Parts: sequence; C-alpha cells; structure tokens
Amino acid sequence: MPVTTNVALGVGGGIAAYKAAELARALMERGFFVQVVMTRSAEEFVRPLTFAALTGRKVITNLFSATSAEDTLSSAIEHIRVAQENQILVIAPATADLLAKLAHGLADDFLTTTYLAFTGAVVLAPAMNTNMWNHPATQENLRILRSRGHVIVEPDEGILACGMVGPGRLAEPEAIAQIVATVALGAANKATAKHDLDGETVLITAGPTQEPLDPVRYLTNRSSGKMGYALAEAAAERGARVILVSGPVTLAAPARVELIPVRTAAEMRQAVMDHLEPATMVIKAAAVADYHRANPPQQKVKKTAARLSLELDPTPDILAEVGRKKGDRLLVGFAAETQNLVEEARRKMQSKNCDMVVANLVSQQGVGFESDENEVTLVLRTGETIPVERASKISIAHRIFDEMMKLRLALHSAQ
Ligand code: PMT
Repeated sequence: MPVTTNVALGVGGGIAAYKAAELARALMERGFFVQVVMTRSAEEFVRPLTFAALTGRKVITNLFSATSAEDTLSSAIEHIRVAQENQILVIAPATADLLAKLAHGLADDFLTTTYLAFTGAVVLAPAMNTNMWNHPATQENLRILRSRGHVIVEPDEGILACGMVGPGRLAEPEAIAQIVATVALGAANKATAKHDLDGETVLITAGPTQEPLDPVRYLTNRSSGKMGYALAEAAAERGARVILVSGPVTLAAPARVELIPVRTAAEMRQAVMDHLEPATMVIKAAAVADYHRANPPQQKVKKTAARLSLELDPTPDILAEVGRKKGDRLLVGFAAETQNLVEEARRKMQSKNCDMVVANLVSQQGVGFESDENEVTLVLRTGETIPVERASKISIAHRIFDEMMKLRLALHSAQ
C-alpha cells in the first residue's frame, strides 16, 4: 500500500471519460482510496453510478447539490474537505476547457474549486482532438500548469474519436496509475524528508552557457539544467538556503530557491564569485562552454562563399577558481565524459581541488544531457568511487547530498 493513500480523481467531460473507470480500478488495485469528482459534462458520457460501484464511495458531481439549507452549507464547503483529505489530485480526462480553467484559476464547479483549494500533488492526463491539443492556447495553458510543478501525462497518438490521427488520445489507465504511484512515492519521501542541510547555504550552477558569435548567433551545448535544478530542489527540501546560478533553460525555479539567471561563462563566473562568501557547499553542475569569441562583432556576420574560421579563446574555469578559494567549503564538480570516466573525474578532482566529482558518461542513451534520468559514478577525495545506478535526477541529487553529508561528518571528526 502506498504511503500516500487518498486520491481525488476528477473526471472531465470527454469521450475518454469511460477510461476513468478503468483508472479508478487501477488506482484501487495499487492501494489508493479513490474519491471521484465528476464535472457536469462528464456525466453526459458516464453515469456516476459506475464510479460509485467501483469505488464504494458517493461520487461528487455538483458544488450545490443539497436540498436543505443545512445541507447547502455543508456541500458548499465540501470541496475544502476533499482538498484537505486527499494527497493527490488526478484529472483524467483533462479536457482543453478544464486545462484553461485550471491554468487561469477559474472556479465555477466542484472540481475547479477543489483544485484551487488543493495544496498536494496534481497529475493531469489530457485528452482532446489533435488540433485542440496543438493549439497555442492549450500549449500555453500546459506550460503554465507545468511551471506549477504539475505532472502532465502526455496523451497517446492514434486514431481519435473524431476520426483524426495524431496526439490527443488519453494515455492508458495503467500508465496513468503507474505515474500516480510514482508521484505518491515522491510525496511520501518529501513528507519524511530529512532536514540535514538546515543551516547550510548551497550554491549550485545549472544549465548551459551561451557564448555570442555575433548579435544573432551563439555557441552553446545540450544541457537542459535538469540535473542542476534537481540538486537545487533536493537541497531546499533538506532545509538549505539555495542559490541557483542558471544558464538559459526553460525550467521553473524550484520553491524557496534564489535564482540568478546568467547567459555567458563570464556572467556565470561573476555570479558565482558574488555569492561565494555565504556558501558552505558549492556544486558545479552547469555545462560551461570551454571556449568563447573574445570580442564578438557588433554587426551580424555576412554569409559569403568563402570558408569562415573562428578564433576562440578559453573561458574562465570557474570550478578551478572556486577550488583555489574554497576554504572549508565542500566543493563538488561534475565531469561529462564520453570515455575514461573515472580517470578523467579523478584528474579533474585533483586539478580543481574538489571534494567530489560526479562523473557521467554522456554518450549513453537516456541519461546525462536533457534526460530525466542519470547514471553516475561519485569519485571522492578519499579515493572511494561509488557507482550510482540509473535513477531520476532528483534521486541522484539526494544521493549526492547523502555522500556530501558523510564527507562533512568525516571532515569534522578528523579536525
Ligand atoms: O543539464 P542536464 O541536461 O540535466 O545535463 C546534466 C549534465 C550532463 C550537464 C551534468 O550532469 C554535467 O555533467 N555537468 C557538467 C558538464 C561539464 O561541463 O563537464 P566538464 O567535464 O566540461 O566540466 C567539468 C567541471 O568544470 C564541471 O563541474 C563544470 O561546471 C566546470 N567548468 C567547466 C568549464 C568552465 N569554464 N568552468 C567550469 O566551472
């Protein structure tokens, strides 16, 4: 049975509403208690009785469904009760209309008022016609909802009820239930999170840098910032003050994190040096460009038939500079390698005076750059090497902090 057990399942009005019954069953099989909330249009597709029979619970269908004055008051505040009693709110199918209402805070029925009163994890499984899904308004609403940390279960591609072929079909109920189970595990870990970083100030760099070649072109790399942002989220969860110096990425800063956006390696260096003083831990997960064009021209470089050569100069090595000024701070570098992983990491640790180097083989599919998962080897100053199996970047981030705290204790007891 998952630690987080109460799920409010919102059912929107779409042809896929019948699949929500399968989802309710799949959630209950995983040990969740399921409270179904249907919108008025969902009732046009499936009868509440189906869900009531499956879940053994009364299905909520209306904000003001009571007949007596007393009942009216209790039903008027029932959405608050549902918001408080459930740890996860899943909406499937989430129609284009529901996504728009949630994104903009419209609350005119039970489900949307519950959403506004809800503070737990939200999982949205959209289903709609392909053109509606691709419409910029829907995509903008999804961007807003993602930036709130909600999990969007992407619709499947296939033949839709309207006859069109493309994305828009509700994801399979089993797949949605599996994602809810993963979210529940994350919520449970958060609730029991240790606060072992209380009193620490963690300075983290994340993302790529962009080095201008002229006013319209730049040099960059494939870093998405996911690894650095996961470290920031983990550190904040564990009680640290977190300063996140980030190159250009599309991610929203995690809650309670001080974000300092930068563009170039020189700006990243300046931001790191400006915030080094209060830092007790420094983690350099950013993929900093190693070269830049020292004096990029003010005007766009014109295309000609001739071969173009660019002269590039090295960027400042920020990690090496922090290594020289590190004092008592714990310093962690990353190494993105395509071969000789551990040897290269050891070399970087020595030359840049790090306490740990997190080595990732970036030639492997599904880990390293851009992906949601990583697989790393922690190379420690003590000579130890710790392989960490493939896992989500947030799990890897927690594992890095576990090892940093062990290093911190070892250093203290050695003094
Ligand atoms: O952002 P994601 O898409 O989630 O991908 C994560 C990642 C692959 C970018 C990340 O896990 C990672 O490996 N980051 C370091 C990438 C890198 O630049 O590695 P490097 O071996 O070139 O640099 C070694 C270390 O020196 C790094 O800590 C880097 O931040 C630092 N460095 C490098 C150059 C420079 N001029 N200044 C630096 O501080």
